[in-house]
Amino acid sequence: MVHRALHLRLGVNIDHVATIRNARGGDHPDPMRAVEIVEAAGGDGITIHLREDRRHIRDSDLDGVMTGCSLPINLEMAATEEMLAIALRHKPHAACIVPERREERTTEGGLDAAGQHNHLAPIVAQLNDAGIRVSLFIEPDARQIEAAMRLMAPVVELHTGRYAHLWQSGDNCAIETELKKITDAAALAAKNGIEPHAGHGLTFDNVQPIAAIPQIAELNIGHYLIGEAIFIGLEQSVRKMRTLMEAARG
Ligand code: PXP
Repeated sequence: MVHRALHLRLGVNIDHVATIRNARGGDHPDPMRAVEIVEAAGGDGITIHLREDRRHIRDSDLDGVMTGCSLPINLEMAATEEMLAIALRHKPHAACIVPERREERTTEGGLDAAGQHNHLAPIVAQLNDAGIRVSLFIEPDARQIEAAMRLMAPVVELHTGRYAHLWQSGDNCAIETELKKITDAAALAAKNGIEPHAGHGLTFDNVQPIAAIPQIAELNIGHYLIGEAIFIGLEQSVRKMRTLMEAARG
């Protein structure tokens, strides 16, 4: 039996609005204005990553979205004491635990939920107890899903970075192999009561095969939507992504 998510949600990651703002050190463009546009364009959620080095989103941005946004907030966070305290203080709708390395440009690779069980268990438990929907950003790999089950995470976000990278190479055989991994991982998660999400590197061109995976309930997309907003505007960028996602779902 296929566990089919009824509606495929789009979470819009607005980190790079803050990246552009920070390039000049002022307050323009304001991420809160992006939030308003995403709300108007039919986005289902706002995702922000408060990184240890605050290279894009800052604590004041988190304050702003928590008080001024009507959509569910998904806080991406490293599994550290500092981030746990921040999440417990703000109580966002969801917290997606990601691996974080200072020198990386973006989140590279998934969380080793299997290898880091003892470190992650108390963090996941405290977020769960606070009513925050915990998601683990993992590679599409059965071992990691089994680890997410042991950690009692209600959600996994499947890392589509490798798929997106292969898409650029045009190697159809490799793309199909990676797509099958993501499809199988989504099915395994859903069969075991874990809601599968997906994200990283998704674009207008490559989103549809991922959106067509029936169990996936949410896609989190940032860099491409904000980049495309330069050319067609953020509202149009979000609307077009939604349309492509809905068409893929049939
Ligand atoms: N999901 C997670 C967990 C991420 O860390 C990121 C990147 O911040 C994304 C989704 C979005 O990736 P992209 O910006 O490539 O769309």
